[in-house]
Amino acid sequence: MCDDDLIPPRPDLTEAQWLRAEPELAAGPVGDRVRAMGTVRRRALLGGAAAGAALAALPGHAAAQARTTGAVRPRGAAADAFPFPQRPNGQGEFAVLITGDAGTGTAEQHAVAAAAREVCRREGVGVAVGLGDNIYENGPESDTDDEFRTKFEEPNTGLDMPWLMVLGNHDCSGLVPGSGGDPSRGDREVSYARSSRRWHMPSRYYTAALPAGGADPVIEFFALDTNPVASTVTQLDPHYYWNGPYMRAQRAWLDGALAASRARWKVVIGHHPYLNNGRHGSAGTYDGFLVGHYTRGIHLKELYEEVVVGRADLILSGHDHTLQLLEPTTRTAGTRQIVCGASAKSGDGRAHGKHPAAWQNFSDHGFMVLKVSDRAMTVDAYTVDVPTRTARLAHTTHTTTPVRAPAGAVHG
Ligand SMILES: [Fe+2]
Repeated sequence: MCDDDLIPPRPDLTEAQWLRAEPELAAGPVGDRVRAMGTVRRRALLGGAAAGAALAALPGHAAAQARTTGAVRPRGAAADAFPFPQRPNGQGEFAVLITGDAGTGTAEQHAVAAAAREVCRREGVGVAVGLGDNIYENGPESDTDDEFRTKFEEPNTGLDMPWLMVLGNHDCSGLVPGSGGDPSRGDREVSYARSSRRWHMPSRYYTAALPAGGADPVIEFFALDTNPVASTVTQLDPHYYWNGPYMRAQRAWLDGALAASRARWKVVIGHHPYLNNGRHGSAGTYDGFLVGHYTRGIHLKELYEEVVVGRADLILSGHDHTLQLLEPTTRTAGTRQIVCGASAKSGDGRAHGKHPAAWQNFSDHGFMVLKVSDRAMTVDAYTVDVPTRTARLAHTTHTTTPVRAPAGAVHG
């Protein structure tokens, strides 16, 4: 047996999780080997990095730039940015458009946006979410790249509201489109927020609440950067290693932000899903290269399981070009995973996983609308007929019970 045979001890668990799950084995020599895997990890990482060098390019200036933006430091929005709604709409709700994987600039993106415009008018939608892969295929080349116009502003004309944007793997790729191997490229999308009326990305990860500035918001979004722990190549910049300073800071920030939130409804938005029945797979078993113990999202799975589930009502993700309203289960401690990544591309027409689903669609384009009040949370899933640019309400889920009471709530 070579050292690497122990990586990973179980393909869906990190070493720390495995040691806790298998206490009898962990107490013996196998456990000793796993505990010693720090050495192996470094060796595997170097090997992976060598293999990945041909796959991921990392411009030196970009690595330096990244270190200035990893912190959660609000940046100024454009002076004429569309405002966040301060009050609920005519139905007494805050309504939010959910889109994902939209940045192609193709007729499909335009058709979905056109269909969403009609629904948003009818439903009084005041905020939108873009779940990553905002600029295909490799993200913008600068914060003034014309692709921001052709793949975001023009298709979304008339959807005049703040768009909560998160970074996807295509926004953070070097030589290989979609590898996620160059997170620093995402800084260009943070910078772009300073000149766009729609694009809201004050930092690489951030929170946003509705109503904005209220002491006890109805809903709070926790926008994540999942790329460093979900890439298909190992990260070359130590800043973005799965256990490097950036991810440690993001995890601590998320843990604290969820604990402190006084919002009735808490929604985590991150490009890569925790659970997914589409072809890209779930965190820990994503498709793509297996390099050491760093790819396939195993450390993102750990983050979701140890920090998010049971604390957020929803995880909203894209990446898979499908529409899925998965069921809250014991495994998710009541958190519902939603996949909404079909706003410009569509799936292969079939399920690849068996997570319980309230509704799922693997072939159509579409989007969703999230509606919240103090009393209830509703998610409407729409499919879109691209030739006619029209939306059809395909499914609705509704709940009146938050997964966890807001911080500071008085218990009877
Ligand atoms: Fe993606």
